[in-house]
Amino acid sequence: MNKLKVMSIFGTRPEAIKMAPVVKELENREEIESIVTVTAQHREMLDQVLDLFNIRVDYDLDIMKAGQILSDITTGILKGLEEILIKERPDLVLVHGDTTTSFVAALVSFYQQIPIAHIEAGLRSYDRYSPYPEEINRHLIGVLANFHFAPTYKAKENLLRENVSEDNIYISGNTVIDSLFNVIEDNYIFDNNQLNKIDFTNKKVILLTTHRRENLAGGIRNIFGAVQELILDNPEVEFIFPVHLNPKVRELATDILGGLERVHLIEPLSYKEFANLMAKVYLIMTDSGGIQEEAPSLGKPVLVLRDTTERPEAIEAGTVKLIGTGKDEIIYVANSLIENEQEYSQMSNAINPYGDGVASRRIVEMILYYFGYRQDKLEEFIGEEERILEMNP
Ligand code: UD1
Ligand code: UDP
Repeated sequence: MNKLKVMSIFGTRPEAIKMAPVVKELENREEIESIVTVTAQHREMLDQVLDLFNIRVDYDLDIMKAGQILSDITTGILKGLEEILIKERPDLVLVHGDTTTSFVAALVSFYQQIPIAHIEAGLRSYDRYSPYPEEINRHLIGVLANFHFAPTYKAKENLLRENVSEDNIYISGNTVIDSLFNVIEDNYIFDNNQLNKIDFTNKKVILLTTHRRENLAGGIRNIFGAVQELILDNPEVEFIFPVHLNPKVRELATDILGGLERVHLIEPLSYKEFANLMAKVYLIMTDSGGIQEEAPSLGKPVLVLRDTTERPEAIEAGTVKLIGTGKDEIIYVANSLIENEQEYSQMSNAINPYGDGVASRRIVEMILYYFGYRQDKLEEFIGEEERILEMNP
């Protein structure tokens, strides 16, 4: 049989983190020729991940512009990708998640009638503007894709409700857990010495990240206002905020939080540094998607600074709380976790609803199955809650 030509296309930090283990798995298979195309919707934050996982890039569209708007990203990728797909004609294109890179890559692949596999398929908030534009990007990719790698059973159910054929859906687990397990180390020493100086034992260190487009309008000011008050109220609390490179986020962070005692505004961290930081902190406050998936594996409580989430599993398991972006609510819930040990310990159990560290292997095996390179299907991933439910129906 000829080699199966698989092109992975991604462009932002979280896609790179979640696609890295898939690319590594593709590279290890002799039946597969693996090609990597990056759009570079992100630049520095993408390159950090490419370096960490040592990913060789075949094509780089280098589309990032400072303060780019959605139509810049869309048209930049549309124009750049078509000739690469015409030249390479892969047997399959892999896209991930819900970014504009992923949506446009799927669209251009469809125009070229190249089959598409969607990794992290089926997550839904069912609110078209939250997360924006990711909710609709993910729906659109779902319509364009031929194969759907759902991370969890709930994601598969969403796709089934939308009449996607069950034959083309496979529950793989989320590849972010593969990456996380790759970089977490016991007794980790940070490259960033500022982090080594922080007293994680005697202080209650809170890790903050925020970048969502829908929060830029007003939510982010409330979040930063809440941080100001939490710092004033709690002398034992310190915040670490690796600030996203979006100029709007940076401006507000510097204006509102710059110079505040016990608030460490730092540059985006490499994934290895960030993951090991998550493992050391007391609490995480974030509007990120990926962090909601990683933190439960590390037993870290997460307050989600968003009105909706497409990741309900850890909320149901009790380790993640969706609290929105109202200043008073953030202060109230954070204070209760800072002050109330019982409440804190109830939220700090390590659970694995999103993955078990081998999602990438399942995905690659199933690609080989779909294209006739292997005969039997692989067992699907079963999340921890479903496993418990199966044992105690
Ligand atoms: C994008 C994704 C979002 C994902 C997020 C992860 C879309 C529409 N948005 O949002 O789904 O959650 O990435 O972080 O696909 N910048 C740099 N260097 C970088 C990265 C960004 O300078 O390495 C700055 C640029 O000025 C850029 C801005 O950040 O214009 C915003 O980047 P953009 O990709 O448009 O949006 P994100 O908010 O990062
Ligand atoms: N992350 C990182 N360095 C940082 C902040 C986050 O490596 O300074 C990682 C984090 O562990 C997660 C991913 O980046 O895997 C999340 O990215 P982001 O919040 O930008 O995007 P989202 O997950 O919301 O799409």
